[in-house]
Amino acid sequence: MAWNVRTFEQADTDAVIELWTEAGLTRPWNDPRLDIERKLRVQPELFLVATDPEGVTVLGSVMAGYDGHRGWLYYLATAASHRGRGVARELVAEAERLLLALGCPKVQLMVREGNEGVLGFYDALGYERFAVANTGKRLIADA
Ligand SMILES: CC(C)(COP(=O)(O)OP(=O)(O)OC[C@H]1O[C@@H](n2cnc3c(N)ncnc32)[C@H](O)[C@@H]1OP(=O)(O)O)[C@@H](O)C(=O)NCCC(=O)NCCS
Repeated sequence: MAWNVRTFEQADTDAVIELWTEAGLTRPWNDPRLDIERKLRVQPELFLVATDPEGVTVLGSVMAGYDGHRGWLYYLATAASHRGRGVARELVAEAERLLLALGCPKVQLMVREGNEGVLGFYDALGYERFAVANTGKRLIADA
């Protein structure tokens, strides 16, 4: 195996933000640095990165959380240079293992409009599609 999966460390911050940017996961209304700071305060052990075997170069990420009802996945990405080798599959499997260890009965995620092509990836991992309308309200205006 040409990569390792481990918990995110502060020193990974810039590399992870670069990964998210290249993967098209950043949005003007989500400051990735603040997203990371917040995650480091809540279940930081569920924020994972895939790295080269030396544990230095970041190749992938997933940010998971358990709210007491559902487990959630965010910021799943694999570096373009390492896609199609099972990196994301392993990141998701490790996140699922950690969620299950917390007693989490179901894991789910949101796919942004325009990124439906990624649903085939989740199909391959045994995720079942369901239709739902999402709505949300910002409680802290970051920008
Ligand atoms: C989606 C993404 C994370 C997949 O990463 P990856 O490391 O290439 O995925 P894996 O190699 O682990 O693929 C696992 C399986 O899914 C399949 N797969 C991967 N992407 C797929 C896609 N877009 N459609 C259908 N199947 C796909 C692979 O063929 C593989 O199947 P196999 O194990 O039977 O061969 C990566 O393409 C990415 O970073 N995309 C941009 C960011 C993004 O959209 N993230 C998801 C936000 S919801």
